[in-house]
Amino acid sequence: MRNFPAGKVNLIVTDPPYNASNGGINLPNNKTGGAYYKVNEDWDKLGNYSSYLDFTRKWSKETDRLLVPTGSIMVCGSLHNIGEVIIALKELNYKFINLITWKKTNPMPSITKRTLTHSTEFIVWFAKGSGWTFNYKNMKKYAHGKQLKDVWEFPVCQGKERIKGKNRRAAHPTQKPLEIFKRLIEMASNESDVVLDPFIGSGTTAIASELLNRKWVGIDNKKEYIEIANKRIEHLRKNKKLTSLV
Ligand SMILES: C[S@@+](CC[C@H](N)C(=O)[O-])C[C@H]1O[C@@H](n2cnc3c(N)ncnc32)[C@H](O)[C@@H]1O
Repeated sequence: MRNFPAGKVNLIVTDPPYNASNGGINLPNNKTGGAYYKVNEDWDKLGNYSSYLDFTRKWSKETDRLLVPTGSIMVCGSLHNIGEVIIALKELNYKFINLITWKKTNPMPSITKRTLTHSTEFIVWFAKGSGWTFNYKNMKKYAHGKQLKDVWEFPVCQGKERIKGKNRRAAHPTQKPLEIFKRLIEMASNESDVVLDPFIGSGTTAIASELLNRKWVGIDNKKEYIEIANKRIEHLRKNKKLTSLV
């Protein structure tokens, strides 16, 4: 990001590592990625609270330089990391617009039976300054003509939408539902705007941006994920619509 020109990005939509991989979890018969679905990735291990906060401060300082003064940033998180994300963005003196709760309609069960079933994730929406884009009227279509609230119900990404690898398991362990990212982008940017995702993974932000006629920039430090994202984008462009990549 250090080589990118300053002040060219209208919206950042991103899903950084949550720092949630701690030995990983195995879920027999989970449908998201095959018989077993495991979240235990080296890229998701960023140490204790203070090193994760440091990591978040570093990347958000870079994205701050790239964002236009009227730009917004949307960051996904869970109980593992959302606190640090909020602190880092508040330190940049951004305005906290909304804390969106994603209520999962098909959450993974609590296999330890020592906690409530985790059935939510969050998306924080911060504006860099005043004059941020909010397509208020347009968003009412998602609420039967009423004001759109900040709790959104969506299933975890699975079935045909979920990109599979050669072994028929999920190609990316944390692929996000496309509909959530489409809604975020539609809500806080306009056609031809530039959307940046510095942790693009399987390319969900890019696909959502293409479908909504936004320009986009995606970054990931794993070559295999960039290949998946590129394949997904090529597939979309060739077919001019979203079809299964499975
Ligand atoms: C939570 S995943 C994003 C998933 C994505 N939203 C999707 O739908 O596929 C986070 C991504 O950040 C990438 N990543 C981790 N650390 C990174 C870093 N320092 N720089 C760039 N990418 C990084 C990982 O490879 C991973 O693909």
